[in-house]
Amino acid sequence: MSKEIRIAVVGVGNCAKSLIEGVQYYQDLRSGDEASGLAFTDIGGYLPRNLKFVAAWDVDARKVWRSLSEAIYALPNCAMDIIPDHDVSSAVEFGTQVRQGPRMDGVADYMLDFPETVSFRPKEDTSNEDNIRDVVRHLKERKVDVILNYLPVGSREASKFYFDAALEAGCHMVNCIPVFISGTEAKEWEQKFIDKGLTIVGSDMKSAFGASRLSQIIQEAMLDAGIDVTQHIQLNMAAMSSQGDNRPCGHTANTDFLNMSEQHRLKEKHISKENVIRGQNKIRGKSMDNRTLFAGPSLTVHAIGNNPSGTDTKVCNIDMVAHGFAGARYFLTARLEVQDSPNSAGVVIDAVRFCKVASELGVVGFLRGPSAYTQKTPPVQLSLQQSLDECQALARREITEYTRPQLKENKPQAAELDHGFNDSDQD
Ligand SMILES: NC(=O)c1ccc[n+]([C@@H]2O[C@H](COP(=O)([O-])OP(=O)(O)OC[C@H]3O[C@@H](n4cnc5c(N)ncnc54)[C@H](O)[C@@H]3O)[C@@H](O)[C@H]2O)c1
Repeated sequence: MSKEIRIAVVGVGNCAKSLIEGVQYYQDLRSGDEASGLAFTDIGGYLPRNLKFVAAWDVDARKVWRSLSEAIYALPNCAMDIIPDHDVSSAVEFGTQVRQGPRMDGVADYMLDFPETVSFRPKEDTSNEDNIRDVVRHLKERKVDVILNYLPVGSREASKFYFDAALEAGCHMVNCIPVFISGTEAKEWEQKFIDKGLTIVGSDMKSAFGASRLSQIIQEAMLDAGIDVTQHIQLNMAAMSSQGDNRPCGHTANTDFLNMSEQHRLKEKHISKENVIRGQNKIRGKSMDNRTLFAGPSLTVHAIGNNPSGTDTKVCNIDMVAHGFAGARYFLTARLEVQDSPNSAGVVIDAVRFCKVASELGVVGFLRGPSAYTQKTPPVQLSLQQSLDECQALARREITEYTRPQLKENKPQAAELDHGFNDSDQD
């Protein structure tokens, strides 16, 4: 069994930076060690240091055709530096270069209106762009096991391009963004991955402890206590706040938030974030009629002037009203401030290892437990405990009632597998 999990990154932004630096940071971790910031040290014999970054695609002129180890430090990336001397040589295979992929719908035109320090600057010359044949050839040459989709929200065409390439090159996929989240699309893609004997984790990352996880936990706890949640509003904002950063100038939201400042791009993000809250009502059979269960994806904050710097800090405010014993009222407000991109890296270190272990056990298609644990819109929403139990079983290399029907030998059909959301929920 090869101990290396070879990874391709599509979109070398803040999340890729934190992930790659994180794999470098946890290099010395051994099985049985407890590590702050990771839910799992050992997944089926794989440790974080078994992840190796061997391929990458982007479109930004400051990143393409540079080594991946350098490109993660290029503007407009603004996530915290985890590795102060920028030496990520254990995590990134020597010679790995960021290739230029097709732009398609990855970069919204309005991103060009923001100063270049905080926004995308796609490379104009398209003559070097990889087409699908080049991408598939490169994935095969680099022996890529898993592709990470880290494209900006709203990149449907570009995501399809890399999904197709994954299927052709025989790579598992971790779909970190909210695309293909309707029941119909999820089933169609799942069948294609099953037919190729591949796994998929998706969709739309749920960070280790971010707004979604917090909303899920509070919603679960109240519902399980018999309390009726009549309002759960989660609002998110990207803004420098109280994290001790005393840089003198103002800050603008990171590119993930800027990219979502136009409504049409964030429709699926909105649905996906609300799925986390509503899913907990749904799996318990609790009514959502006349309840306000809302998650607003972003309030983008801009600094004044032409030379702002980006902030990777995200602030979430939750406002809830609930009714308990004999109608007695609860008002709950919560505020969570996180460093957004590092917060997302741990679940991806796990998701990648789940793909590898599941495929070694002969499981194909969407990994339901890991998807529910690490993503906002999995094929089935589970309670936090159920999803954790499923992940722990897979980490022990055990097959469960969820994974058994997905064994290759059982010839799974996506249409017959559990898809908790029907089409009208998400289409
Ligand atoms: N906690 C989190 O940060 C979190 C949680 C859930 C989901 N996500 C999602 O993960 C994705 C990545 O987040 P991020 O913060 O790294 O975003 P980012 O804006 O920092 O990075 C996106 C990268 O994609 C590149 N890109 C744009 N179009 C491209 C194309 N056609 N081909 C290749 N590359 C292209 C950009 O140049 C940029 O480097 C986003 O969709 C985000 O919403 C993030």
